[in-house]
Amino acid sequence: VRTRVAVIGAGPAGLLLSHLLGRHGIESVVVDSRSRVEIETTIRAGILEQGTVEILSGSGASDRVLTAGHRHEGIELRFDGEGHRIDFTGSVGRAVWLYPQHEVLKDLIAARLTAGQDLRFGVTAERVEGAETDRPRVLARDAGGHTVEIEADVVVGADGSRSVVRETVTGAYGGSFREYPFAWFGILCEAPPSSEELIYSNSPDGFALISRRGPGVQRMYFQCDPGTDAEAYTEERLWEILRSRVPGVTLNEGPVFQRDVLRFRSFVAHEMRRGRVVLVGDAAHTVPPTGAKGMNLAVADVVVLTEALRALLLDGDESLFGAFSDTARQRVWKAQHFSWWMTSMLHRQPGASDFDHWRQLGELRSVVESAAGRAYLAEGYTGWPLAR
Ligand code: DHB
Repeated sequence: VRTRVAVIGAGPAGLLLSHLLGRHGIESVVVDSRSRVEIETTIRAGILEQGTVEILSGSGASDRVLTAGHRHEGIELRFDGEGHRIDFTGSVGRAVWLYPQHEVLKDLIAARLTAGQDLRFGVTAERVEGAETDRPRVLARDAGGHTVEIEADVVVGADGSRSVVRETVTGAYGGSFREYPFAWFGILCEAPPSSEELIYSNSPDGFALISRRGPGVQRMYFQCDPGTDAEAYTEERLWEILRSRVPGVTLNEGPVFQRDVLRFRSFVAHEMRRGRVVLVGDAAHTVPPTGAKGMNLAVADVVVLTEALRALLLDGDESLFGAFSDTARQRVWKAQHFSWWMTSMLHRQPGASDFDHWRQLGELRSVVESAAGRAYLAEGYTGWPLAR
């Protein structure tokens, strides 16, 4: 197969990139090792920054985000037995949308297939060759075990945190890495919402997040040990833990039908481009989930890359493409800091001293009691302006 841009990975980054390139008349081939059903049903993130929503709706990728998604104009930070609202629209004039990632993926897949996109499920990329040439190649295998070779002007690794493209780009240098001594226990339950807006709670027993999915389905998380076995808790025990983490809030309880343990890690690849091969989204970086930056950061990478590829492939201008890694990494590090900050401010560190505990409450108070503090949080949460 011969195309202009070979995209490995049909997640939010890969699909949105092929969509935006298509609008410039730049053709691409997208492959993913997973099936369409698996991609469309895996429960992932839920919060979209305002800029992400503008890109999805403005480019025709998704109108449903505005009709089926829910605009949230603030969140609640809870600590020391009290809730404090951070008013996003009041402080920065921006908002976020609750619209699950798998719904974004359904919209993007439908839009790409309608446009006649060459989108291949069940095709597993094995390696990338010729990064330093102007004809890089992807060597892949389809479900029947047959070799698929895709030759392109540019190869994009949008294949997530277990990227097979990453090493081609970063070599042995890899990236900057950090692990955290805790994880999140996530549940989906059948119950009415417990709160209109999301609640981020710092409690003496550790963090909890009360999020939502729909009128009858709720998403909640609580801080747990990274070695936790998700099946080891009874439902009654899960509710007992959740109740203790949001003192002063009455939770609407109901049957728990999905549970998972999310790892906490930060990673940034030292390089997001080598020659004609680039990385976007989780293939290039991982953030801990607090603050919901992961998918939004993937979208921001794609916006920068689309402009760079337009200049390279339509005008023969290599300057934006040459600067891609440096440009994208500036926002990546701001988001890394934001995710690290929200995480450190809200979680209980194992072995935390009395001093650490009171300092953390002092930090939370200095954010919620200051217009500048609330605006700082709101700006990061709703998302800094996208490069256009
Ligand atoms: C959700 C996840 C997050 O990491 C977050 O900060 C907010 C919401 C969610 O899955 O609903």
